[in-house]
Amino acid sequence: MKSAKPYIQENKDRFLNELIELLKIPSISADPSFKEDVLKTAEAVKMALENAGCDAVEICETPGYPIVYGEKIIDKNLPTVLVYGHYDVQPPDPLELWDSPPFEPVIKKTKTHPEGAIFARGASDDKGQMYMHVKALEYMTSTNQLPCNVKFMIEGEEEVGSSSLGWFVKRNQEKLANDVILISDTGMIANDVPSITTGLRGLSYVEVEVTGPNRDLHSGLYGGAVANPINVLAKMIGSLHDENNHIAIPGFYDRVETLSDIERTKMAEAPFSLKNYKKALEIDDVYGERGYTTNERNAIRPTLDVNGIWGGYIGEGAKTVIPSKAYAKISMRLVPNQDWEEITQLFTNHFESIAPKAVKVKVTPHHGGQAYVTPIDFTGYKAAEKAYEKTFGKTPIPQRSGGSIPIVALFEKELESKTILMGFGLDSDAIHSPNEHYGIWNFLKGIETIPQFFYFFTEMSK
Ligand code: BES
Ligand code: MN
Ligand code: MN
Repeated sequence: MKSAKPYIQENKDRFLNELIELLKIPSISADPSFKEDVLKTAEAVKMALENAGCDAVEICETPGYPIVYGEKIIDKNLPTVLVYGHYDVQPPDPLELWDSPPFEPVIKKTKTHPEGAIFARGASDDKGQMYMHVKALEYMTSTNQLPCNVKFMIEGEEEVGSSSLGWFVKRNQEKLANDVILISDTGMIANDVPSITTGLRGLSYVEVEVTGPNRDLHSGLYGGAVANPINVLAKMIGSLHDENNHIAIPGFYDRVETLSDIERTKMAEAPFSLKNYKKALEIDDVYGERGYTTNERNAIRPTLDVNGIWGGYIGEGAKTVIPSKAYAKISMRLVPNQDWEEITQLFTNHFESIAPKAVKVKVTPHHGGQAYVTPIDFTGYKAAEKAYEKTFGKTPIPQRSGGSIPIVALFEKELESKTILMGFGLDSDAIHSPNEHYGIWNFLKGIETIPQFFYFFTEMSK
């Protein structure tokens, strides 16, 4: 495989402009009022795949948003790489914290991106990273270098739990048959410290509702005599961690995979500066489970976090009221061997059991998924390693991430293949946050590295 560098240099303005057009469409899967835009994005992805040389590109209907599928089969005896990505994005709010509107992409230089970065919702997660694969395919087909078969499966519900994709995968096992799954929807340590993501955490997401009296009450007339659901909810949430920041749900840690000292020592070798970490977040100290380092806390240990909490009066001024209800959204990040449905049940049982009689509690599960770990001793990983060595001039570091792509574990179960997570984002990309951006250097480096993966994977599979 020849280096894609000259081709990229020649076409980079067009690549960027195409990505910018894609980023202008607000494909927010969580908000039904953006339905037309989500569907429009699926059409745009279909056209992009066709232009890049994919055959048989289709928009596959599902109970939810469609999946864009395309393939280029050159020889049934050659290996097949299945590329997965998502065209939906997170809601952009709070809008007032964006320096430029989230769906009007602009290119600006930053400290970490002296070559410039594209600022827009979805720039890094995942339109920009997904589009690298489209352009890598364009490079390989237009220069007659595609070394194996390729299939694309780009979904529109990743940010809301991928339930339609699960439905689709179960019904299309043959169509999706492959030798390795390739995803760029994660990050790496730094532009001069390439890394390959070897783990994703699982997830259990629930919503809780605490009900006190049947209506909002005068907090003077009733205060002190009936349970205030917000007070109670705060106390219940507070009790979910003990003084060492362990999660206090019985059975929660029963199946947690424990890493050997050797594995933990190896993990600690990855470059990391606690000082810079704190500085980037403007915090005076980190906070987490006793006995574990920051990188362990956010990658190999399970966690529980409140994502939102509401109830009562939050308008201007003051209103003296005991609300009837209080709510919270809670997520638990899980590690290998924990089962998300079992954890959801353990949470529900525990949360119901700690509620005082004076309130009623309802727990509603949202979605979830299992954790995933990529082995580093199989062809897919070895090929990825070689690809990075070629384009970065360095051996990438295997690193487990704290994020989740719940569908990856399902791919392994239903399609019986392993996933390689070649993410080119950085932690500073601000995914899910205001001012999300993706480095142009990262975008182009991805386009350069992906064809090398195809080449080495094909060679090493022989
Ligand atoms: N691309 C992210 C996941 C990610 C980002 C993993 C960076 C590792 C490093 C994905 O789009 C995402 O946001 N996933 C959600 C879960 C989903 C079920 C909503 C997450 O991790 O919160
Ligand atoms: Mn993503
Ligand atoms: Mn995301």
